[in-house]
Amino acid sequence: MPHLLIAPSILSADFGKLNEEIASVEGFVDLIHVDVMDGHFVPNLSLGVPVVESIRCKKPLDVHLMIQHPEHYVEAFAKAVKKAVGEKLAAKSYLVFHAETSNDHLGLIAEIHKLGLLAGVALNPDSPLGQLSGDVLSVVDMVLLMTVFPGFGGQSFIATVVPKIRELRDLSPELNIQVDGGINDETVFHARKAGANVIVAGSYVFGATNREKAVTSLKAEF
Ligand code: DX5
Ligand code: ZN
Repeated sequence: MPHLLIAPSILSADFGKLNEEIASVEGFVDLIHVDVMDGHFVPNLSLGVPVVESIRCKKPLDVHLMIQHPEHYVEAFAKAVKKAVGEKLAAKSYLVFHAETSNDHLGLIAEIHKLGLLAGVALNPDSPLGQLSGDVLSVVDMVLLMTVFPGFGGQSFIATVVPKIRELRDLSPELNIQVDGGINDETVFHARKAGANVIVAGSYVFGATNREKAVTSLKAEF
């Protein structure tokens, strides 16, 4: 089983002081999760390329693209990530697109790799693993199994996704399996026990009075 990684989602941070908010957590987390929403694939808008470019941080970014036609935007986001964290951390940063938005998963993964970043594919709670085309599992760096329907922070964890996490872990013992949505100090254990190792948490971390303690609680032994 690969390493446990914690990725707080800045969707629940104060955008008026985004870099300060990132600085408040970067010392004790592994990735910074950045939610990009287009108002089409999901019923909400969040941020785009200029905001990603303006991020300054010492940890790799994990850019979650909840957008239609991701192939039109990966180059711009890859450049923005490089501006934000530099070439070295960009090579450890992820661009994650939704399987539901592309007919050419392998082509898009190859494109992201060519741009010098790691590639991830996301599945909505009701999208089966079978939606990942062909040899995706042998080339992708991470699979994100959404534990809420994407679009908003602060929703409740959908427990029916747990068997899908276990199914994927059984298929792929070394894969980075990410969960995103409704993660807190209780739901995280359902996800981790089933095999998830990359944990996104937005409102639970940024809403906590002690953010470090909140992150530590997500890493507790079980
Ligand atoms: C939801 C986003 C999540 C969101 C999670 O569409 O992809 O990353 O920020 O927020 P919480 O952890 O509050 O459910
Ligand atoms: Zn997300």
